[in-house]
This record gives sequence, C-alpha cells and structure tokens, in this order.
Amino acid sequence: MADKTFYGSGKPLVGELEMPGDKSISHRAAIFGAVAHGETVIDGFLRGNDCMSTLECLRALGVQIEDEGDRITILGQGFDGLKEPDHVLDAGNSGTTIRLLSGLLSARPFYSVLTGDASIRKRPMDRVIRPLQQMGGDIWGRGGNRFAPIAVRGHQLRPIEYRLPVASAQVKSALLLAGLQTSGTTKLVEPGASRDHTERMIRAFGGEIRTMGFRHELSGPQSLTGIHVHVPGDFSSAAFFITAALLTPESHLILRSVGVNETRIGMIQVLKDMGADIDFINRREWNGEPVADIDIHYAALRAAEIGDPLIPRLIDEIPIIALLATEAEGKTVIRDAAELKVKETNRIKTTVEELRQIGADITETEDGMIINGHPGQLFSGGTADSFGDHRIGMMLAIAALKSRNPVTVRHSDAIAVSFPAFSDRLASLQK
Ligand code: S3P
Repeated sequence: MADKTFYGSGKPLVGELEMPGDKSISHRAAIFGAVAHGETVIDGFLRGNDCMSTLECLRALGVQIEDEGDRITILGQGFDGLKEPDHVLDAGNSGTTIRLLSGLLSARPFYSVLTGDASIRKRPMDRVIRPLQQMGGDIWGRGGNRFAPIAVRGHQLRPIEYRLPVASAQVKSALLLAGLQTSGTTKLVEPGASRDHTERMIRAFGGEIRTMGFRHELSGPQSLTGIHVHVPGDFSSAAFFITAALLTPESHLILRSVGVNETRIGMIQVLKDMGADIDFINRREWNGEPVADIDIHYAALRAAEIGDPLIPRLIDEIPIIALLATEAEGKTVIRDAAELKVKETNRIKTTVEELRQIGADITETEDGMIINGHPGQLFSGGTADSFGDHRIGMMLAIAALKSRNPVTVRHSDAIAVSFPAFSDRLASLQK
C-alpha cells in the first residue's frame, strides 16, 4: 500500500475544475441499466474502484457491458436477463455494491455469494439481511447474519411494510430493488431523509414510485426501459475542493456540473451558517437530478453546531467539515453522527485521531466530535493514516494546506475508491 506526501504552497487556489462522476448515481445507473430492457448509455460514469466493482459484479451476472472510458454502454435484458454467477461476487470496498446487489439478487431464481474487502467484511449487513428475510428471502450472513460473506438463494418474495431503523439509502435501495421484482406493494418508512437517487433513477427508467415525506410505496413487478444517463459531478468529491478554497485566503474556485440534490448538500447549509461565500450558478437538471456550477470564494468562518436532522444529508462530508472547523472561530460541535462508526472506517475515531496526530485541537464524543477552531494557526503536519478509507485520505491531503510541514498520508491509494484523479487535480491548482 502506497504512502503519498502532500504539500501546502500557501498560494491561493484559483481556477475551474470538473469533478468526477457521482459515485451513488454511477452505481445506480449501472445496476438499473443492467435490469432494464434495451440499451443504457452512461456518460460521466465514475471510474473509481467502487463503481468498477459494481460493473464487474454485473458482468459476472451475465450482463453485457461495453466500456469506452468515460462512456459505459449496457445491454440490459430485464431482471430475467441476470444469470447465476459461477464465482463469488466481489464488492471490494463498496457498501453500495454489496447492499444493493443483496436486494436485487434476493428475488432472482439462483444462488449467489457476495463478499468484499476486510473493511466490508466488518460492516453491518444485518440492516439489509433482516428486512429481506422478512420479505421471505433466503439470505444469510456470517456471524449470525451480521456480516459478509452473504449467501443468497433467490426466489419470489412477498411485499412488506418496513420501518427502517436508520436513515440509510443503501438499505432503502436494496429493498426497492427487491420490491421492483415482487408482486404487491412494498412500503418503506424512513426515520429521516436519506439520499433519493434510487427513487429518481426508477422514475428516469420509466418505473413508478410514490414518495410522501419519508414514506415510499412501490408496486411490483415493474419493467424498466434503458435510457441515456448523464452522471453529474460528485458533491462529496467537490466538498474537498470547497474546503481547500475556504482554508486558503484569496482562493476562488468554480466547480463545474456538480450534482446538488437536496438530500446530499447539507454541507452547504452548514457552510452558509459558518459565513462562507458560496453560490450555485447555471442550474439545470440531468435525468431528474439537479446540477449546478459551484462558485466558491475564500471567507473567514465561524464555528457551527451540526446535528439531526441534517446528519444524513452530510454524512460523507463530516471528516472534511471537521477539518474546516479547525479554521473556524469558536467551538464546532458535531452530534447525532453515530452512523459514522460503521462507514469504511470508524470515521469518528479516524477523523479525530489522525487530525490530532498532525496537530488539530479536536476530541471524540459518543456520537460525534468537538473541534476548537484556531483561525490562521498552522498544524505541525507529519504522517497520518487513512486506514484505507478514501475520504479520510483526501481529508488529510487537504489538511496539508493548513500545515507548516508536509502531510504524508499512509495507504493513500484508497483515494482511488471515489476520486482517482484527486492528487493531480489538487496539484494542478497549486502550480
Ligand atoms: C450511499 C449511501 C450512504 C453513503 C454512502 C453511499 C449510497 O450510506 O454514506 O457513501 O450510494 O446509497 P447509507 O446507506 O448509510 O445512507
């Protein structure tokens, strides 16, 4: 595993950047393309390791996929076109891959086994296994159905009404993929708003789903039709560059064609509360997903209080918000974020320990963290570990912009999970 050293030049970051394709939307475009009838063309597909894992699993399920770099073409033959894989399906580091495919495959008439890397094998899978069993699914996991590998003997399911114990787009999407293949009405109620890309994607592929607040109803079985998908840039990747601009006086960045779906941009609300100068320009819509260019100028920030109901709308941005808060005047408190403990790493622990390691004033709490901001004060820098977590790796790389000495990020190759060109894009702004 590689280490990489990041340097802060102290110079303003000025320029325009394209962000890589949205990770959540890329996974869904590939999965829905695979089960729709006819051709689906995906432009702007994220070529990160996670989404490539989804493509490989779909290929192993017999789906014909042409890969021309930025454009992926999928020849879907409906749900019935999927075939029994002759090997274990490997989701790599991707929770979205393993959880969504668990739902999809629970209703397919064949046997499959899903697993992933060491991180995936520690993450909770009971959150999908339990409701799928309630639908009548024959699905099991290691450790009393808690962990991957997951074994599925798929067959016809029955619809359920299910209250999700946590706001999780992966759980919701797994159950919707099962529900699309099940006769009757599947009803889901979420405790809060998780990202709604699956619902939008079902509609874009000609399917029907009714959403009333946190309640979703879908009647099956449904047949979907292939479409041309344009994947917007990933707001969660943009968050690292937004933060870079806010850590470096006189910076001005324009991030082109970024997805600005309300269920994803809780960070914008926090940034505005902190006093950031940030605007969405050139607003438009791609396949039912809102898109805009993000215009961001450096501004001095003040601390924020961050908790429910905002947490699911910024869950993946908490490590980078924590870094930003070290530069904001006052004490930032992040609470209600226990879900961070079951991400690629325990992100409460890794964020706090690795930022402390390079000199930040930050403490762990039961469900979040407390950050004392010291505007203008540089970290010492040094070596810190991503522990194989892409978002921790990128956060530490951006922390070099606020450090006296360079920051060496251990296991930095994990960054390729969601943003393979991250280091090059950052370097291009520092010239
Ligand atoms: C994702 C959902 C989120 C998020 C993850 C991607 C998705 O997890 O943290 O990075 O693509 O559905 P939850 O399932 O906990 O919402």
